[in-house]
Amino acid sequence: MKKLIIISTLVFFVSGLQFCSKSDTAPVADGTELKPVLPSTVFDYVVTYPAHVQAALTANDNTPADNPITNDGATLGRVLFYDKQLSKDNKVSCGSCHKQQFSFDDNVALSAGVDGGLTTRNSMAILNVRFYKGGKMFWDERAATLEKQALQPIQNHVEMDLTLAQLETKVNALSYYPALFQKAFGSTLIDSVRIAKALSQFERSIVTYQSKYDRVKQGLATFTAAEAQGEQLFLNAAAPNTCASCHTPPMFITSMPNAPFALLDAADLGINNENRFKSGSLRNIGTRTKLFHNGRIENLQAMLTPGGPGAPPPIPNHTVAQQDVQNMLAFLNTLTDNTITTEAKFSNPFP
Ligand code: HEC
Ligand code: HEC
Repeated sequence: MKKLIIISTLVFFVSGLQFCSKSDTAPVADGTELKPVLPSTVFDYVVTYPAHVQAALTANDNTPADNPITNDGATLGRVLFYDKQLSKDNKVSCGSCHKQQFSFDDNVALSAGVDGGLTTRNSMAILNVRFYKGGKMFWDERAATLEKQALQPIQNHVEMDLTLAQLETKVNALSYYPALFQKAFGSTLIDSVRIAKALSQFERSIVTYQSKYDRVKQGLATFTAAEAQGEQLFLNAAAPNTCASCHTPPMFITSMPNAPFALLDAADLGINNENRFKSGSLRNIGTRTKLFHNGRIENLQAMLTPGGPGAPPPIPNHTVAQQDVQNMLAFLNTLTDNTITTEAKFSNPFP
């Protein structure tokens, strides 16, 4: 009898333990509120990158002094990024148009927002945004900083369509936020300034540094002959307008979209209506489709070998000689970091 009690207590204890650890990760439904499932120990968002990436960061980092990344801040940012309740119809989150599996891009030319309305430009990959030294965001750089950018899609009528007052009311009403704001900012005050800061911390933590290109730069791998020739082409071909002069290694990003761009799109003239556009990081470009500000270029292959029926004309500075196409593609494919598209810390925490 005693034995039985001991065993059943043990069974109860063990299953209780299991229940506890499970309830850490299991979805919790409370009325209509969908709660995020977070790890009991926060993920690590404060990372020391390999030397070549760290050097670029030191030179270009747009992180403001009052908003450094913390693990709790980025965790809150992750929840906000994927929370559909930040939209008018509760169906759209930042992650709807910046999808992890597509390197935080949306592989369609124009993205759908609330009520299925379409954006006027192609979504941008949120990758390595903290390496954009000038800090300006959007294809036309109309947001001065990442923090200022973060509240714009929320207020945009096509994208998420809330006023800042509505946003604050909604976030304040959700039971899981006070504790997250407390951890991130030291008090339970919830306002749009903190929402923008947390979103920015999460976005700045999305950095690619585990591609073949990175392993080669650390001396841990070597390029194939085709990849090596592609790199030379990227760095040197058609000087002074080499690819690298506008898409600067190692993050393949620049703060100088200075040259007037191709007459690709008479309807959209970009920065100051000067036919200039920002380009985000070219990292993971080999996995992305619908390229450029209007999404009209199908993929890298189509960019490098333009023409064909219905295809847009070649874009100046963006084609290479026929015999170089395969090498250029081989090189650009070494920029793909597959960890970013699968890592749990960047994934949707909502069940
Ligand atoms: C309905 C689709 C949609 C939603 C929802 C959306 N975005 Fe975007 N995002 C876009 C499009 C389209 C662009 C480019 C717009 C432009 O340049 O005019 C963009 C651009 C950006 C950029 C600029 C990147 C760069 O390199 O300049 C950032 C950062 C960004 N979005 C973050 C967010 C955040 C944070 C949210 C949620 C608060 C969000 N987005 C919600 C479609 C969306
Ligand atoms: C004069 C500066 C300049 C040069 C030189 C240049 N680019 Fe670009 N690139 C840009 C700008 C600006 C954009 C964004 C333009 C737009 O969307 O309208 C862009 C866009 C791209 C894109 C699409 C990015 C996206 O997110 O959709 C790819 C891919 C690309 N460039 C690759 C290259 C390659 C490869 C070369 C060399 C063969 C090259 N670029 C040369 C400035 C340049």
